[in-house]
Amino acid sequence: MKRIERVLIYGGGLMGKGIAHIFSGDPKLDVTVYDIADNGFFEGLLATFQELVAAGRISREEALSRARRVRFTTDFSCPAITKADLVIENVYENMALKQDTFALLETVCRENAVFCTDTSVMSPTEIAAKLKYKERLVGTHFWNPAYLIPLVEVVKSRFTSDETAHTVLEFLTAAGKKAVLCKKDVPGFIANRMQHALWREALYIVEQGIADAATVDEAVKASFGLRLGQLGPLENADMIGLDLAWNAHDYLLEHLCDSHRPSPLLESLKAEGKLGFKTGEGLQSWTPERIAQAKRDLNAYLIRHLP
Ligand SMILES: NC(=O)c1ccc[n+]([C@@H]2O[C@H](COP(=O)([O-])OP(=O)(O)OC[C@H]3O[C@@H](n4cnc5c(N)ncnc54)[C@H](O)[C@@H]3O)[C@@H](O)[C@H]2O)c1
Repeated sequence: MKRIERVLIYGGGLMGKGIAHIFSGDPKLDVTVYDIADNGFFEGLLATFQELVAAGRISREEALSRARRVRFTTDFSCPAITKADLVIENVYENMALKQDTFALLETVCRENAVFCTDTSVMSPTEIAAKLKYKERLVGTHFWNPAYLIPLVEVVKSRFTSDETAHTVLEFLTAAGKKAVLCKKDVPGFIANRMQHALWREALYIVEQGIADAATVDEAVKASFGLRLGQLGPLENADMIGLDLAWNAHDYLLEHLCDSHRPSPLLESLKAEGKLGFKTGEGLQSWTPERIAQAKRDLNAYLIRHLP
């Protein structure tokens, strides 16, 4: 495994700040964030600690000292770029930009630096296309807010070496993340494949007039949603017995939505400009107060579940 002491976070937007927050917790790490522009990086990073301070999880002084520990630069000739052991790229979700970013980084970074790409949906194999040493790049799918959601999917491209994948898994685990290996570069990696299979069925239930959106959400939150944090779906299948799981699937699966296209309900709401929080109307109606409350409640819930 490679030794990682100097981390470069390339792109200091929403995810870049969240990831900087994570690594700021280790005083032995040298953490630098590079971005083409400074849009209030320090204040933004400090703000990520606010709710944790309010919840008594960290003191105001410790928050300030962690935010100060992270170096920020817009200077591409900064030595932190050439000396980095590991780079985590968080630029916009644009394939050409990501490919060009790594091609550029390869011209200045150390030959054995590890490259991580934080992408929600794009293929690490494609992102590595312009690299000379493609085995050094791996996908790292963080979830937002990166400092409150434990999971990082470490996604092997067709070229990623075992050494690269295991270095990154070990490094993220040491930083307190729940890092899991996705052995194949497939759309949606592991967790989003399951999340969107669930959303497809949830939308279908509303579309078919079986229940309204609020009821669907309540049913999830008061049943298997409650269990999921403790008991994964496959543990659950083993718990009930695979013969019973087989019987349930044999009877039920043909009745579930198996569409390969976005739901007609989603299509029509989108066409009407009903986009949810963004417009105040979506699958439900959202006042500004309700939106603010939903966001507060989510973060408070995530903070309660921190180790
Ligand atoms: N937002 C999420 O929930 C989420 C979750 C997981 C992964 N991601 C992925 O993380 C990546 C970043 O997303 P985000 O939400 O932080 O976006 P963002 O728009 O908040 O930040 C992107 C940052 O990249 C910088 N940037 C753009 N071009 C650059 C360049 N050439 N060099 C250096 N910096 C550059 C921008 O100035 C900006 O600060 C995307 O690929 C996204 O898909 C996002």
